Amino acid sequence: MLIGSAAKLQFDFYSGFDQKHFVIRRFAVMKKEVVVSGIRSTGNLHLGNYFGALKNFLKMQHEYNCFFFIADYHSLTTHPAPADLHAHVKQVLVEYLACGIDPEACTIYIQSDLPEVAELYLLLSMNAYVGELERSTTFKEKIRKQPDNINAGLLTYPVLMAADILIHRALKVPVGKDQEQHLEMSRTFGNRFNRMYHTDLFPEPVAFNYGTSLVKIPGLDGSGKMGKSEGEGNAIFLADSPEMIQKKVMRAVTDSGPTKENQPKPEAIQNIFTLMEVVSKKETLRFFNEQYDTMKIRYGDMKKQLAEDIIAFTSPFRERILELAKDDQSIHKIARHGAEKAKESAAKTLIEARLAIGFRHF
Ligand code: TRP
Repeated sequence: MLIGSAAKLQFDFYSGFDQKHFVIRRFAVMKKEVVVSGIRSTGNLHLGNYFGALKNFLKMQHEYNCFFFIADYHSLTTHPAPADLHAHVKQVLVEYLACGIDPEACTIYIQSDLPEVAELYLLLSMNAYVGELERSTTFKEKIRKQPDNINAGLLTYPVLMAADILIHRALKVPVGKDQEQHLEMSRTFGNRFNRMYHTDLFPEPVAFNYGTSLVKIPGLDGSGKMGKSEGEGNAIFLADSPEMIQKKVMRAVTDSGPTKENQPKPEAIQNIFTLMEVVSKKETLRFFNEQYDTMKIRYGDMKKQLAEDIIAFTSPFRERILELAKDDQSIHKIARHGAEKAKESAAKTLIEARLAIGFRHF
């Protein structure tokens, strides 16, 4: 099979019937390496998500066999009765598409459109031990946060995540540091399955990012990173109106200005500069750096410029988001197309998993 030279290759196995020997055989073929990543459907995309994850996805989709999905089953562990589950899923889908996730280049789908995932989750849960699940840091954190709703889904969250990854036999999983432990558990469950049922069905998935291209985007409240849980006004969403962006940027935390020439920048000030670094022209950044170093800086002017540059950067995204959100027909087609492609890959794995365990039709 001919594929672009940039593509990373992996052996993939598919089952076929060997006429001569009257047995089901697995044939190896060379294919692009499989990448899987899930996106939680609990909130809008902000600049931090864009530069921290999405930009990577945009590149990966052309070099790997990428499966990106919206983790709506997972959202039930923390949002058990979401009034607007459907609207949230739609919003995430629309925003990813608006940013350039291309349904022809990759497979984008909605987790709950793939019941194969739920079945694999059931099979994997038989060999996932309560003890190891209880030791997960995320679980411990979650039961502290929601003591009134310590549901079993919360405990088995890592099993479902393993099913998401193993169902496509992924080798690479682009996730942040906070997901490393979950990924480790995915490897444990895959390996345990292989050992238990004497198969090599599941490869070992590893965390993956294009090293240097990951930028940590700071928030506007003077500390830490941009995030939706850090409070109103800390994050700039791609769908924010220009007026909203202006308001948030103008309120960003600063101080009374440098007191010495060439003084190191305190965190809040550095944050504004970092934001400028990703959205503004080099000359603009240089100009304000010089102003800072010579103590001439006026933060009001700098913020005005930053707001303008953020608006120029996000406007095309916002326009596409608004346009796509109205186009239910396209959304329907894209979701169906994605579900079909994902199902093809998932169904193959599930057949093999069932066979390995010993399920047979009578
Ligand atoms: N747990 C991930 C998060 O919180 C989301 C997720 C679910 C995921 N399933 C996945 C990520 C599979 C990668 C692969 O961000």
